[in-house]
Amino acid sequence: MRENYMVDMERGCGLALLLAIAAIAAACASDSNNICQWHGEVPKMQRRIIDISHAYRHDLPVWDSSTPLGSPVHLQHSFANGSLFNLSELKMGCHTGTHVDAPSHFLQEAYEEGLDVNSLDLEILNGLVLLVDTPREENITAHTMEKLNIPFGVERVLFRTLNSDRRLMWRTNFESSFSGFTKDGAQWLVDHTSIKLVGLDYLSVATYEEAAETHRILLRKQGIILLEGLDLDDIEVGIYVLHCLPMRLINAEGSPIRCILTK
Ligand SMILES: *[C@@H]1O[C@H](CO)[C@@H](O)[C@H](O)[C@H]1NC(C)=O
Ligand SMILES: *[C@@H]1O[C@H](CO)[C@@H](O)[C@H](O)[C@H]1NC(C)=O
Ligand SMILES: *[C@@H]1O[C@H](CO)[C@@H](O)[C@H](O)[C@H]1NC(C)=O
Repeated sequence: MRENYMVDMERGCGLALLLAIAAIAAACASDSNNICQWHGEVPKMQRRIIDISHAYRHDLPVWDSSTPLGSPVHLQHSFANGSLFNLSELKMGCHTGTHVDAPSHFLQEAYEEGLDVNSLDLEILNGLVLLVDTPREENITAHTMEKLNIPFGVERVLFRTLNSDRRLMWRTNFESSFSGFTKDGAQWLVDHTSIKLVGLDYLSVATYEEAAETHRILLRKQGIILLEGLDLDDIEVGIYVLHCLPMRLINAEGSPIRCILTK
């Protein structure tokens, strides 16, 4: 089960309140920051944080590989080497674990236009999101999308599939029979919804067999962002606030991403 961060956050708020009162006393004399408007009342945060990113574990499955990730972090300097500090280097594929795809991943013209991960719109990556369960007996086809009946106006959707039940992100071997969007499912989404962000619970939003063409359908529509390899275990379906921040990797067509939901 997931840890509940509520308790820690409240303790954090208590400390923040004390610090804030001390700061207000000091700052009220010359209140250039407008701190005195709080009158000692610090707004209380009532919020639960749900982490939907996977840790970069050594046993994390890697696309099309029977060898799991291993350690992407390599110690370059340490006491053992006569250094005064530890300093590591990070080395892994940009589409490892929980990550985001940029249009340049599958579209040559997008690559030429510089539509890399650094160009992704943070307004789309952050905001209200709907978490839905998909019918387990099928991939996400046009028929599935029709049945899901996602209201027009919804811009961000996380699709929890059979992948979560099968715990595929917890297996060391890549599993090509994972569930995802088919071409017609992707086309239906583009034609009939206002969705700008699609998230899924395995390493690709598109099925293995139709991966390239399905990605192209989704990425071609300017402004659809794809989140892959999300951890959607043990979360109730419903509406949350999504917060996602990719790394600003120039020219990269993908990036590791930290995503959380708040309620
Ligand atoms: C220490 O230095 C050696 C030789 O330069 C290198 O092979 C090794 O990886 C380093 N190990 C650590 C922990 O820094
Ligand atoms: C650095 O890492 C090594 C090896 O993991 C560890 O033994 C050491 O205490 C760490 N700290 C420093 C400051 O090197
Ligand atoms: C989804 O498609 C894959 C082929 O890419 C297939 O192996 C799998 O069985 C399909 N899943 C379902 C639930 O039909």
